Amino acid sequence: MILVSGKEVSSRVQDEIAIEVEKLKANGGKIPHLAAVLVGEDGASRTYVNAKVKACERVGFGSTLVKLDSDISEADLLAEIDKLNNDNDIDGFIVQLPLPKHINEQKVTEAIAPEKDVDGFHPVSLGKMVLDLPSFLPATPAGIIEMLRHYNIPTEGKHCVVIGRSHIVGSPMSILMARNTYPGNCTVTLTHSRTRNLTEICASADILIVAIGKPEFVTADMVKEGATVIDVGIHRIEDSSKKSGFRLLGDVKFDEVAPKCAFISPVPGGVGPMTIASLLKNTLLAVRLK
Ligand code: GUN
Repeated sequence: MILVSGKEVSSRVQDEIAIEVEKLKANGGKIPHLAAVLVGEDGASRTYVNAKVKACERVGFGSTLVKLDSDISEADLLAEIDKLNNDNDIDGFIVQLPLPKHINEQKVTEAIAPEKDVDGFHPVSLGKMVLDLPSFLPATPAGIIEMLRHYNIPTEGKHCVVIGRSHIVGSPMSILMARNTYPGNCTVTLTHSRTRNLTEICASADILIVAIGKPEFVTADMVKEGATVIDVGIHRIEDSSKKSGFRLLGDVKFDEVAPKCAFISPVPGGVGPMTIASLLKNTLLAVRLK
C-alpha cells in the first residue's frame, strides 16, 4: 500500500510556484495577489482560509483576507465582490463556502468576475472545463488529478467511482476523470444518495473518490483489493485527549480500508493540501492570462 501524500506533492508544487514568482520579480512582472473572503466565524472555514493565506506568503504571493460579519446582507457582500472585481492589484479571489443561510451562494459565485475566479466555481469556468477549453479548474478536483499524476496511478480504461455529486467536488471530478487525457480516460460512475447497490458499485471500482461528507462512510467491504482510494472528506471530531480539542477523520474508515489498497490518501495530509496548491496555480494562471 502506498500512501498518497498530498502534503508532499503540495509542497513540491508550492516550491515550483515560488521559483516562478522569483522569475516574475526578476523580470519586473506583476507579483500574484490572491484575496480570500471569509464571512462569519465558522472555525473550520477560518482554519482553511488561514492556511490559504499562509501558503500565499510561502510562495511569495501578495494576499488579502477580507473578514466580514456573519450578518452581512447579501447586497453588501455583493458590493465587496464588486470591489475585488475592480481592484487591479487583485489577480484572483475566493469566497469561502459555506455562506450563512440568508445568502444565495449561487448568486455570489456568479458575481465573481470569471477572469478572477481562481476557485473555478463560476458557470463560465465550469462550462469551459466541460468543453476541454483552458480554464480555472475547481481547486479540489484539480488537486486530485495532480496527485494521481504525481504517483503515476494508471487511469486509462479503469472504472472510477465517485461518491457525492456536489458542484465543487463530485460533479467536476467525474467530468475530469472521463476526459481524453492522462489522468483520465476512465469509465466513470457518479454515485449519490439515491444510488442503489452502492456497496457493490464501489467494490467494482479501480479508483474510488469519496466526497460524501460523512465521517468513515466507506468501509472495507466497499473496496476492491488493489484499488486506489482518494478521501476528500474532513471532519472535526471532539476529542478531549487532543490539545486542539478535536481530531480529524475522513470519509473513509482508513485503518480497515488501507490494507486493501494499492494507493490511498490519508486525512489529514491528503487532498486538503492539494486544494491549496491548485488555488495557487490558478492564481498564477490568472496573472499570465491578464
Ligand atoms: N469550502 C470547501 N471547499 C472549498 C473550496 O475549495 N473553496 C471555497 N471557496 N470554499 C470551500
